[in-house]
Parts: sequence; structure tokens; C-alpha cells
Amino acid sequence: MTTRAPPTLPATLYGADPVQWAKERSAIFSRSWQYFAHESELTSPRQWVAETIAGYPVVVVRDEQGALRGFHNVCRHRAGPLTDGPSGICEGHLVCRYHGWAYALDGRLRLARDFGPSDDFDPREFGLLPVRLETWRGLIFVAVDDSVTPLSEWIAPLERRLQGRDWSGLRVAAVRHHTMHCNWKAYVENYLEGYHVPLVHPSLDAEIDSSRYQVTMDEKVALHEAPLRSPDPVYEGLWAWMWPTLGVNVYGVGLMVERMAPLGPSATRLDYIYLMPEGVEVSPETMAISDAVTSEDVKIVEQVQINLDAGIYQTGRLSLRHEQAVAAFQAFVREALSDNAPESSRGRFADVTS
Ligand code: FES
Ligand SMILES: [Fe+2]
Repeated sequence: MTTRAPPTLPATLYGADPVQWAKERSAIFSRSWQYFAHESELTSPRQWVAETIAGYPVVVVRDEQGALRGFHNVCRHRAGPLTDGPSGICEGHLVCRYHGWAYALDGRLRLARDFGPSDDFDPREFGLLPVRLETWRGLIFVAVDDSVTPLSEWIAPLERRLQGRDWSGLRVAAVRHHTMHCNWKAYVENYLEGYHVPLVHPSLDAEIDSSRYQVTMDEKVALHEAPLRSPDPVYEGLWAWMWPTLGVNVYGVGLMVERMAPLGPSATRLDYIYLMPEGVEVSPETMAISDAVTSEDVKIVEQVQINLDAGIYQTGRLSLRHEQAVAAFQAFVREALSDNAPESSRGRFADVTS
């Protein structure tokens, strides 16, 4: 029996259409778990980290009891930001940078500056809007939509593969950012196949046995395995992807989290977060190899984006041997964007009554 090579997504889905982007934010990014930070960045009460993912500004703070809490970083007065910069430590409240409304670390509005009885205003109705927050192996994830199933279910295929591996005691050893002029899907698809390795990455191709490069889909996780031609002290030849934009590159010691963060429909930022045990640094050689491979990927996906935008290409076909994970990803995109997808519960207001 023959199986037909699946058709690709249409080129129009990679364009700069703001309506399409709004739909993807709601149907894909609000309804999925997004890597946010590592627990080592929030070790003591009152520490916070702020980040904007797919246009959702979020702040995560450790409260006075030591619990992590996540909120939309959007003041309920007139949408000001509660933080300035990527991280910090507050004085027991998150205070809006615009007019000074102050929120307790559980999200309750404590002070609406210069509001009084004549304003007929109930602060209990204006608590910060929470986001879902869960952790896995010290990695903090957030989800905007209430209906997202637990993170443990999403990550189970990777957890099964990592059994026995200890990731306790890691900390952020290095961070690298790369910004690309392409739609996020073009980059994700590139990450999901090794078909391009011999042409795009000649040096990497010399290190790994591309003929035995394997990508296995397990639920919404793709596991890549590429045997090394000779053993390497750092690189393990195992990396994973989780819908929609998380990469986990596993090293002999520690890992690198790759967040493929869309900045809009036409730009994507790669955040490489190296998590290593205390005292272990990322070697300049590892960094240089990673930068070289990344620049090769960036160059090709930016060229692909120009060609998608040219309006000539409509759809192509995917290799059954090499691009099963791309086909799976595209099926997830189609499913999420279909009109039958369940209603989002994004933006439900917190019921803060105490
Ligand atoms: S917008 Fe936050 S206090 Fe005005
Ligand atoms: Fe690549």
C-alpha cells in the first residue's frame, strides 16, 4: 500500500496578515504551555520575571509564602505595566508604572491611588488577571487559557524519554537571543526535520550520521535522535520539540531550552537558555558551534520567507521519510485554526472576592 506525501500548509498562512496573527495568538498561543523562566531565577519571595510571549505580557512573581504566581502584566486601571525591565525584586507589591496602583502578590488590588468613597469603586473587582502556571523539572511554564490540560500531560513523552536523568540544581548559565525575519511556523518546521542537514549544515553533517537521523512523534512532542559519528562530551544527539514553539536540547550535563518566540507574524526571536549545574559553564566552543548552526538556519528560513512572500509558491509536498514531524505540526496548526476548535476561555476575569 502506498501512502501519499502530505501537502504542506498554504503559503498564505506565513504572511503578515494581522487577522491571521490574531487568530493564531488566540487559537494556538493562548491555548498552549509556554516556557517562561527557570526556578533558579526566582529563588526568594518578591522576586519577579517579566516576559512577553506571542504578544501576551506576563509577570511571574514568588509570593510571600514562596509560591509562584503568574499574572497578565497589565494593570486593571488603564493597562499600564507592573514592571520595568526583565526581572527584579519588588517591595511586597506589584506597583503599576503608570499611576501607581498597587497589587498584593496574590493579585488583589491593595491601593488605587487617590481613589476614594465618591468614586463608587470596588477594588475587589479589579485584581490582576491570572495566568495558569505549572513547573516541570524546575522549568516554569505559563498558559493564558484556563482550559489547557495539565503540563504533565503535554510533557509526558519527553519525561518518559528522560527517565533517570537528574535536572535538579540547575541554574541559568547563559542566554543568547537571535531575531529572524520570518513567520514562526517557518522556523519551527525547519527545527522539525533533519532533511536539510547535509545541505544547510555541512559541519554538523560531518559530526552526525544523517542517514540515521530519526524524528519520532509522540503526542505533541517530537523526539529527534541523530547518532554521533564519534562521542562528544557535551552534545548528546537528543533534542525534543513540544507544540507549539518549545525546543529542548539535551546535553550530557544540563540542557538548552530553545524558545521560538513569535514577535508578530513576520518576526521570530530565538531565546537560547542554557541550564547547567552550579560551577559548570557553557564552553566557548559549544556556543560557537550553536551560533554557527543557528546562523545557517536563520539564513535559509529568511530566504524561504522571502520566497513565500513572493506569491509564486502556493503549496508543496512533504517527505514521508524525513518530514513526518513537519506534517504533524502542520496538522496541529490546521486543527487549532479550524472553526471547530473549542471556544477559548482566554481573558476570564479573576474572581477575587477575599
Ligand atoms: S494604568 Fe496602572 S495605575 Fe493607571
Ligand atoms: Fe537546521
